[in-house]
Amino acid sequence: MARKKRVIPDVLAIDIGDKGQTIGRTKEGEIVIINGGCVPGDTIDFLYLRKKKGLKFGQVKEIKSFSTDRVNPQCQHFGICGGCKWQNLSYKAQLKFKQTAVEQAIKRIAKDEEQKVETIVACKETYEYRNKLEYSFSSKRWLTLEEIKSNADFSKSNGLGFHISGAFDKVLQIEKCHLQNDLSNQIRKEVAQIAEKHQLTYYNIREHKGFFRNIIIRNSTIGEWMVTLVVGEENIDDIQLVLNELIGVFPNVNSWNYIINQKMNSSLFDLPSINYSGKDHIIERLGEIKYRISPKSFFQTNSRQAERLYNKARELANLKKDDILYDLYTGTGSIALYMAQDCLKVVGIEEVPEAIQDAKQNAKENEIGNAEFLVGDVKEVLKVSFKEKYGSPDVVITDPPRAGMHADVVETLLQLESPKIVYISCNPSTQARDILLLKEKYRIERIVPVDMFPHTSHIESIAQLILK
Ligand SMILES: C[S@@+](CC[C@H](N)C(=O)[O-])C[C@H]1O[C@@H](n2cnc3c(N)ncnc32)[C@H](O)[C@@H]1O
Repeated sequence: MARKKRVIPDVLAIDIGDKGQTIGRTKEGEIVIINGGCVPGDTIDFLYLRKKKGLKFGQVKEIKSFSTDRVNPQCQHFGICGGCKWQNLSYKAQLKFKQTAVEQAIKRIAKDEEQKVETIVACKETYEYRNKLEYSFSSKRWLTLEEIKSNADFSKSNGLGFHISGAFDKVLQIEKCHLQNDLSNQIRKEVAQIAEKHQLTYYNIREHKGFFRNIIIRNSTIGEWMVTLVVGEENIDDIQLVLNELIGVFPNVNSWNYIINQKMNSSLFDLPSINYSGKDHIIERLGEIKYRISPKSFFQTNSRQAERLYNKARELANLKKDDILYDLYTGTGSIALYMAQDCLKVVGIEEVPEAIQDAKQNAKENEIGNAEFLVGDVKEVLKVSFKEKYGSPDVVITDPPRAGMHADVVETLLQLESPKIVYISCNPSTQARDILLLKEKYRIERIVPVDMFPHTSHIESIAQLILK
């Protein structure tokens, strides 16, 4: 027998969870998790669907009254595309919730009741702030309820846009995305027209067939553009046909590349990127430093805000000319190179060999002679004995992935006893977890949240830790 769905009336949406869901409170004071459709301040009738770990999960049945923090979303795809779920919340309110999330993590996880979290650094550009978008092709596009109800034949309906979360084989056809400069939309639309004109196939993930898989469009704040076409078939004639037509329409794109991916999965790290026309990289500039970005290189996706993030990290690092700096999880050495002129020497560690190649190349092109880069897992490379070879660190900057630092890395940092640690994180929960361990020898001096991604639940946070 199907389980009965229950409606709980007059639930007040009070907060936003770390995965972007809304948190609600019933009239009886019970906390419930609402999967989209409302913003804090709304009062709703809540359709309770399931229980997990003692919490009720469900969705909006009806909105009874609207929050004063609501705004009209700019994007026509809002509500279906999973990309910018907070667009219907004012930017001021978004910042308030991000600020609170960092405060709560420090209080509850790092167990620091007293710590004052500084005002979040807002992002001036709330649209067109991304320098990279990856669109997917699918022979099965996501259909709206209206389309399904229309009974039209959609058996051969191609889609070019973004995957919908929870529907790995379906792609939402994007008409306009506001996250990158509009040239990105124009290039994507042109590819779709070329595909249509030449009857080239879109990828079918279930059957593992089809020519077009992805198109990755990157740009930089100095106006350079890169297009990388990812195809599922090694059909050089068709690759040339598509790229030649695109180059004709967009002669100002600086770098044209393609990748042939015939694997079942869509990861590209183990596949060669082939430069078809123009440069094999583009240049981005943050502060004084020019960065070379290759098709597969990692680079912060919001360049202007990355510069503000690095400036804040520089302020917190407060390097002296004779300081030794370690930059853990250095990626393409972006932070290390940004700070190199402030100190005697910087040592960067990163596990992706191609990123380290880029870091070394970037050091050379910027004539930076005091930066060394090492490939490997920080857990393996950073040992206490490391300081005998590279010198004892005066400042450690660490910028790990969402999972935070491995406990062994935290232990090594405790033994290294650098006078200062600047911990940059894209996940306040794991940052607070690691800080709790570091508190054995460190005190938190400053915490500064930074908003890198408006309209999303992502939060960046920088902590300055001082050896006690
Ligand atoms: C958040 S990014 C930071 C990149 C860089 N600091 C920047 O601002 O561009 C994290 C980096 O850590 C690297 N990484 C992840 N796990 C690692 C590990 N165990 N050891 C070394 N590097 C790792 C990733 O490849 C990625 O480049």
